[in-house]
Amino acid sequence: MIIYVSNMSTKMPIQEGDLVLFLYRGKKEFKKVVKRVRKGEYFHTHVGTVSYDDIIGLEWGSLIRTSIGGEVLVLKPTLSDLMEQIPRRTQIIYPKDAAFMVIKAGVLPGSLVVEGGTGSGSLTLCLSSAVGESGLVVSYETNKDFLKLASRNLKRFGVKNVILKNKDIREIEEKEVDAIFLDIGNPWDVFEQAYRALKPGGALCSFVPSYEQMRRTVLSGRESGFGAAEVYEVLLREYEVDERRTRPKPWMIGHTGFIVLMRKVVDVNL
Ligand SMILES: C[S@@+](CC[C@H](N)C(=O)[O-])C[C@H]1O[C@@H](n2cnc3c(N)ncnc32)[C@H](O)[C@@H]1O
Repeated sequence: MIIYVSNMSTKMPIQEGDLVLFLYRGKKEFKKVVKRVRKGEYFHTHVGTVSYDDIIGLEWGSLIRTSIGGEVLVLKPTLSDLMEQIPRRTQIIYPKDAAFMVIKAGVLPGSLVVEGGTGSGSLTLCLSSAVGESGLVVSYETNKDFLKLASRNLKRFGVKNVILKNKDIREIEEKEVDAIFLDIGNPWDVFEQAYRALKPGGALCSFVPSYEQMRRTVLSGRESGFGAAEVYEVLLREYEVDERRTRPKPWMIGHTGFIVLMRKVVDVNL
């Protein structure tokens, strides 16, 4: 199945069928909700109802009033918004980790990237955006139900440069791959196959939640011909700023996972 990345341009006013990010004051925090706007339909919030007929034709960034005078800001959803709001049945990779993984692995427009497993498609969405129209993401997922959900998610976001395969990543078929991303419990089981599939110097990026997995990933990677290992954990702290006080938000995501980056090494003396 091939899906193509949608145009994220904000030059055109909001059109019927666009995905729109609604931002409004919640009870404690600002709320962000992504919806597809269609004529004759409504979005109900605790600050009132928004008619999509009133949204279609507006400029992006418009501040509108609901049926009861509540304020709602209408924005084009960013990649981060889409990833955060993705319907999910698995753990997902969050923007803070995905962005770092993509940059550190050297993914660029035109890259050929392989992923296992697809899960809900959150990382897939980020990879799709990074490789662009001239690149390709091939994503492997063993669970049919998760694959169906990921496929729906990617279609909803207009993604077109992804091939989804209902296969075990150990059966990887691609060659001369620029980077491989693994978000599975036992990434070391794929290292031999990943080594064969990657270009010399290509990046292998594993995302693992525990210290034990992180250590085994690095040690097994070395045995399988990977080098230049780097291990990271990305901690993200958000701040709130208003007239009275400026401080870190009291809550943050404490732990998602470790990012293990390695490169395919070709020993010229062998
Ligand atoms: C944590 S989820 C991946 C979430 C995904 N990165 C995201 O951002 O939505 C792990 C997925 O890997 C799949 N999986 C596990 N082992 C696999 C394998 N050997 N080949 C392909 N998929 C596998 C699981 O079925 C599960 O859906």
